[in-house]
Parts: sequence; structure tokens; C-alpha cells
Amino acid sequence: MPPHDLALHCLQCARVHAVTLTRYVCDCGGLLEARGAWWIEPSLLSGRGVWRYSSMLPFPDAAPWVTLNEGATPLVPLSKEGGNKVAVKLEGANPTGSFKDRGMTLGLTWAKALGAKAVVCASTGNTSASAAAYAARAGLNCIVLLPEGKVAQGKVAQAVAHGARLVTVRGSFDDAMGMVSALAAKGDVYLVNSLNPLRLEGQKTLAFEVVEAMGWNVPDVMVFPVGNAGNVSAAWKALKELKALHMIDRLPRLVGVQAEGAAPIARAIAAGASEVTAVAKPETVATAIRIGDPVNATKAMAAFRESKGAVLTVTDDEILAAQRDLAAREGLFVEPSSAAPLAGWRKLAAQGAIAADESVVLVATGHGLKDAAAWKPEPRVIDPTLEALEAILR
Ligand code: F0G
Repeated sequence: MPPHDLALHCLQCARVHAVTLTRYVCDCGGLLEARGAWWIEPSLLSGRGVWRYSSMLPFPDAAPWVTLNEGATPLVPLSKEGGNKVAVKLEGANPTGSFKDRGMTLGLTWAKALGAKAVVCASTGNTSASAAAYAARAGLNCIVLLPEGKVAQGKVAQAVAHGARLVTVRGSFDDAMGMVSALAAKGDVYLVNSLNPLRLEGQKTLAFEVVEAMGWNVPDVMVFPVGNAGNVSAAWKALKELKALHMIDRLPRLVGVQAEGAAPIARAIAAGASEVTAVAKPETVATAIRIGDPVNATKAMAAFRESKGAVLTVTDDEILAAQRDLAAREGLFVEPSSAAPLAGWRKLAAQGAIAADESVVLVATGHGLKDAAAWKPEPRVIDPTLEALEAILR
């Protein structure tokens, strides 16, 4: 028996639902949150990675976990800026190279337990790569819907390699998201996007790891790239649960970073609005967060407001500069979206909104190898002699 009394609670009308193959949102349209009698004691933590925190996760009784030993990613301090107070959580070190694996181990474990024959997702790339890998592991079919163009080649290659059925939609990620939600509601396939509250539970473990790595202390600020807004919502839930259990005594400020051309949440917060206005044609070099109508917007906006954090926009040039600096100065190769937190922290630090003595964790969500086409090597080609080598090194 799992140590929980699991149910899905509507954040809008407070109705409570059982976990089923077709339940992702409330009948009123509200987002759902997994709740139960979570409990944790340090003595219960064992092993490494996501399932180390199983006493804080909802898992089904029957099925074995579908896992690739995800999580346990490094927390690496910046060495050239930030005065030793800024660290990068390197999520590219997950099995498929992004933070999505933390949620996907829960998603596929539930898909199997609920008797699904296939899983489905819409994706800007990483979710599809992760879903495909975990579905292969689980022995389930995987269908992925990608927006036309703009998905990084490495991510598409992963989905193909893992045997997913790829469908390209003449439209945006948001169009594809609407399609898969409608399909999953019919009960044929299990939805593994972050609209699924059980998949999101796995993503809590990023925050658990940060806090445990800091000796059960919290950083002053955690900075996330924001697309569909699931990851930052999951982190906030995790942190509030730890606080309720007296595992931590305060909460960090959460900062979200969106690309200027795909910033519906930053705009809504700046306007003091309670709901986002969708961006019809989102555009950014950070294709992973090229999302105009984030499904978890209301959860994330509550997180930013409750934590007294912020959401800001950065330009594509600022993102690319941060990506180059992480690679060339720090030895950390991350994809463009994952460099957005560094760009955002630089901006807020320059404005004084994050003080120099505050501890900061930048969440670097995905590996640079996934989106490497922009890096063009320009090697000097020489004859195979020491003289030729010394001549060009001179
Ligand atoms: N960073 C990367 C590398 C991502 O792939 C994503 C989302 C995000 C950040 C944003 O996270 O959606 O929880 O706010 N990628 C999704 C996908 C949409 O389909 O792979 P979020």
C-alpha cells in the first residue's frame, strides 16, 4: 500500500475526483492537483533520484515503477559570476537529457497501472523524447504531436529512435495540446503532458533534491524557464509540502523567465490580470518554451504571487549570450531555453531585485546536445605532422 490517500482536487471548484484513465481536468475546466496524506521522514529516504522521495509521491499499488533511474542531477555553482551564491541545477543529466524524465517515470507507471495501451503527448520536443523512451521501457505505444517546424533535431531523433509515432501538426504547440487533451478525454490513450497532475508530481523531486543538497535549507531564489508552466508549479507544490511537514522553515521566491516572443504569463502578471491572454504566434529561438497558451498558467501565476517572486522576459540575444557563456566559461552545455534563467538572473541582479548575497538556483532544464545545429565548428585542417600543428598554434 502506498502511504497516501490519493485524490485529484480541483483548484477552481474544489471538487474531488478519483484517478482514472480519462481524468485530467475538472468538469468545470479547472486544473487538478494530486493530494493525499503525504508524509516523509529523512529515515524513509533511500536510493538515488526520483524514487528516493517515493514517500512524497503518489504511486499505484500494483505496478512496478517504470524507471530509468532519473533524477539525482548535479547542482553546480557558477565559477565566473554570482560570487559563489549562484548554482545551476543541471537537468540535462537525466536519462533522456531533460527534466521531463522526473515526471515521465510517474506518467508511464500510472499509464501501465491504469491499463492504457498507449500514451500521447503534444510537445515542443523534450516531452516527446522522454515519453518515447519511457513508453519503450514500459512496452506501450507512444504517439507524439509536434508543431510544424522549429522542433530541435536532436529531440525528434530521440522520439524516432525510441519508436514513437510522430505526427506533425500544421499549427502551434497550443493547437497540438488541445488535440491531445480531447483525444485523452475519450479514454483510448493516456495523456502524459503536464496537464496530467500525476506526471507533475514527479517533477516535485527537482525541488526536493535542491533542498536536500543544501542540507534541508532553501535557496533565496529559484529561477525557471517557463513554457507550459508545469515545472515551476510542481516545484512550488513540493516546497509547500516540505514546509507543511516542517522539513524546511521558509520558502524561496520563484522567478519565471519567458522569451520575449512567447511571454503570456509575464504579460499577465505585469498587467495585474488573473488570467493569461494567449499569444497567437509565439516565436523564440528557445523552441522548447515557444508556447503561447500555457495549460498550467493559473497554477504558475499563483506560485509566482504567493512566493513574492517575479516573471520577466528576456530577448533571444540575451538567451543566446547566456547559453554561450555557460558553455564557454562554465563547461555547462545547455539548450537555449535552459539558459534563459541565467539571462533572467543577470537582469534581476543588475536591477537589484536579487541581492548579491542571496543564494540562487538556476534550473537548466535540458542538454545542449539536443539543439546543437547552431554550433558550427570551424576547424583548421592541416597535414598530419608536428610542424604543421606547431605552425598553427604559434
Ligand atoms: N525547458 C525545456 C528544455 C523544456 O523542454 C520545457 C518544456 C521548459 C523548459 C518549460 O517547462 O513547460 O514546465 O514550463 N517543454 C515542453 C515539451 C513543453 O513539450 O517538451 P514547462
